[in-house]
Amino acid sequence: DKGNHRHFMAKEIHEQPEVVGRTLGHYLDMSSGHVALPFELPVDPATLSRLTICGCGTAYFSALMAKYWFERFARLPVDVEIASEFRYRDPPLDPSGLTIVVSQSGETADTLAALRCAKGKGQKILAIVNVASSTMSREADVVAPTLAGPEIGVASTKAFTCQLAVFAALALAFGRARGVLGAKEEARLIGELMAVPGLMAQALKCESAIEGLAREIGKVRDVLYLGRGAAYPLALEGALKLKEISYIHAEGYAAGELKHGPIALIDGDMPVIVIAPKDAVLEKTISNMQEVAARGGRLILIGDENLARDFAGEAEASIIMPEFPADFAGMVYAIPIQLIAYHTAVVMGKDADQPRNLAKSVTVE
Ligand code: F6R
Repeated sequence: DKGNHRHFMAKEIHEQPEVVGRTLGHYLDMSSGHVALPFELPVDPATLSRLTICGCGTAYFSALMAKYWFERFARLPVDVEIASEFRYRDPPLDPSGLTIVVSQSGETADTLAALRCAKGKGQKILAIVNVASSTMSREADVVAPTLAGPEIGVASTKAFTCQLAVFAALALAFGRARGVLGAKEEARLIGELMAVPGLMAQALKCESAIEGLAREIGKVRDVLYLGRGAAYPLALEGALKLKEISYIHAEGYAAGELKHGPIALIDGDMPVIVIAPKDAVLEKTISNMQEVAARGGRLILIGDENLARDFAGEAEASIIMPEFPADFAGMVYAIPIQLIAYHTAVVMGKDADQPRNLAKSVTVE
C-alpha cells in the first residue's frame, strides 16, 4: 500500500522520521540518556583492536559513515569493506575480533559470503539487518535489527537511515565501553540523536524546492556530488541513488579530492551538489565550493540558512536544512539526497520503484 504516495520510494522516504525514531528507541534509553543495547555484545569492545564492517551498495555507504563515528566516539580503528572484495581476499583477521555485516535484505550473496568468511576465521558476527527472518540473521552471533519495516522500493532509503541509527547507537555503546565517552558526553550525544527524527521531518519540508531543482537535473548528463567527513559517504550515496533510478551518470567525491582530478570536469553544464552540514570541516568544504564557483560551475548546495545566505550570489540553488549540532547530520541530510534522486526520476518519467536491470535483493554474485 503506497498510502497517498505515487511510489513506494516516496512513501518510504516520508516514513523515515517515524522508523528512525522507532529504531533509535530500540537502542537508547531516552529517559536515562544511556545507550541500552537490547542484546549482549559477542565481544567486549574494550578488548577490540579493530572492527571490520562489510556490506554492498547503500549498506556499504552506511558502514562508511559509521567508520567516522566509531573512530571519533570509540577511538576504534575500522576497516569498511565492499563485501565482494573482502570475501575473495583472504583478509587477515584476528580470531577474537568482531565483524559487522550490514544488509537490508539479509540475503545479499556477497555480504552473506563475507559473513561466512569472517566467521570461518573465528570472528564474532554482528548482523545489522532489516529482514528479521533472513539468512544473515540466522548465521550471525548477534542480530541488531533495523526497524524500518518492509522496504519495497528497489532503491534503499529508510533502511539506510535506520542502519545509520543502529550504527550511531553502537558507536556510543563502544565509546562508553572503551572509556572514551563519559556519561555526560554520552547523554549529550543521545540528546542529539533523539532530535534526529524531528529534524528529518523538518528536512522533508524542502521537497517542493527539490521538485523545482529536479526539473533542471533531469536535463543534464552528469552530476557531481561532493562531501567531506561523514558527508563524504553521503555524496557516494547521492550519486548511487541518482544513477540507479534516473540513469543519469553521477559521481560522489570527497570534496578534498576535487583538485586532484574532477575539477577538470567543472563547466557550465554539470551540476555540482555539495553536501555541507555545519560540522568541523565546513570551512574546508566552503573553499571547495568557492573553487567550483570560480570556475563557472553550477553550484547546488545543501546546507543551513547561513551557508545559503553566504552563497546566495554563487549558488544556482540552495536546499535549506535546519540548523543543529552536526554529529549525526548524515541521517538528516540523507533526506534531500534521496528526494533529489526520486524527483529527478519522476520528472524524467522513470519508474522510481522498479529501475531497469535491478532487483531488490541480489542473491547471486
Ligand atoms: C541501492 C540499493 C543497493 C543495495 C545493495 C545491498 O539503493 O538498494 O545498492 O543497498 O544491493 O542490499 P542489502 O542491503 O539488501 O544487502
